[in-house]
Amino acid sequence: MQTLIINIKQLLQVRESGISKVSGAEMAVLPHIENAFLLIKDDKISAYGKMEDCPKETNCTVIDASGKIVLPSFCDSHTHIVYAGNRSGEFVDRINGLSYEEIAARGGGILNSAKKLNETSEEEIYEQSKKRLEEVMLQGTGAVEIKSGYGLTVEGELKMLRVIKRLKENYPIAIKATFLGAHAFPKEYKENHEAYIDLICNDMLPKIAKENLADYIDAFLETGYFSVAETIKIMEAGKKYGLKPKIHVNQFTAIGGIKACVNQSALSVDHLELVTDEDIEALQDSDCMPVALPSCSYFISIPYTPARQLLNAGLPLALASDFNPGTSPTGNMHFVVATACIKMKMTPEEAISAATINGAYAMGLNDTHGSITVGKKANFIITKPLHSFYEIPYCFATNLIDSVWVNGE
Ligand code: NIG
Ligand code: FE
Repeated sequence: MQTLIINIKQLLQVRESGISKVSGAEMAVLPHIENAFLLIKDDKISAYGKMEDCPKETNCTVIDASGKIVLPSFCDSHTHIVYAGNRSGEFVDRINGLSYEEIAARGGGILNSAKKLNETSEEEIYEQSKKRLEEVMLQGTGAVEIKSGYGLTVEGELKMLRVIKRLKENYPIAIKATFLGAHAFPKEYKENHEAYIDLICNDMLPKIAKENLADYIDAFLETGYFSVAETIKIMEAGKKYGLKPKIHVNQFTAIGGIKACVNQSALSVDHLELVTDEDIEALQDSDCMPVALPSCSYFISIPYTPARQLLNAGLPLALASDFNPGTSPTGNMHFVVATACIKMKMTPEEAISAATINGAYAMGLNDTHGSITVGKKANFIITKPLHSFYEIPYCFATNLIDSVWVNGE
């Protein structure tokens, strides 16, 4: 099956194959073609170029995209879309003056979601989660990472990861699963961290590996959650089962976690609302992708990741939604891109690269996703008619999507 899309006003993020991620300096430019065509064969991109070079293919469906922009689908490398219920009560508590940390200290936060998850059947969690996945697909997400971490019990974590596995099997977009047993210490382990870490390493991990339920391992490296030393133990245990680390770090405090993650060959370090010179130095010349989550900063009113500081130091940066019930109850990557421009002073060029090619890298999908490249999956968005891609972040709350394509359909 072949589809030819013609008269594309701007075809964004066109890249030769073999480019896995783009650094701060490279992100300033978004390679694109004005007045372009795009040829799709089965589920892959088979050619693209300027309209004057458009092949005279017969035997294919032709779509006229006059005035419209085509960009690769968003690659959302950090979400928690598998959860039960919601936390709108805590949302109102915050409006009334409590902070995220104060709510967590009262037994709310992650432990609140864990209680709900353990009380809900796998079937019901699947039903709730698939609605969120369908929602983000319609918003242009073409690849997504999903974490466990609201079980915090052997059965609860397995239940979440089995739901992710079912989503992988039943939906056409690429899904990566991350085991986040180290999201918080359950109440009964508050005074006995070692026992919970033991449970993660010696009980949960072997079971998860046996069922092949996870691609990555994560931990919440933060004051009051998992210390640097505890997170190192978790990362080392995960690696024994082939799970590379992707770590929540520097959300509220900077305690040397980023350096530890880089030393452990983490694929990404996520949040980074606080960044020190030592953190930047640790990331320099590493393969570790920093990931910013602006809708989390927006929603719980905490600082935004200092994107300019990272980019000006030459580091790459990815953007993700952090879709979760506590700190970002949306997975709308258009909003994420816009917020990165408006609040973090990223340019549209930088933000689009951060949400596509660098997002793909941050979940190990850079060979197949994240750019308009011959041989990559035909996953892209066709926008409504626009004058320029600058209007994507500019129209921050308008639905600009004409159609979303997954695997050539
Ligand atoms: O990425 N910070 C840690 N984990 C999630 C929030 C979890 C929650 O509040 O449910 C995050 O923001
Ligand atoms: Fe998160």
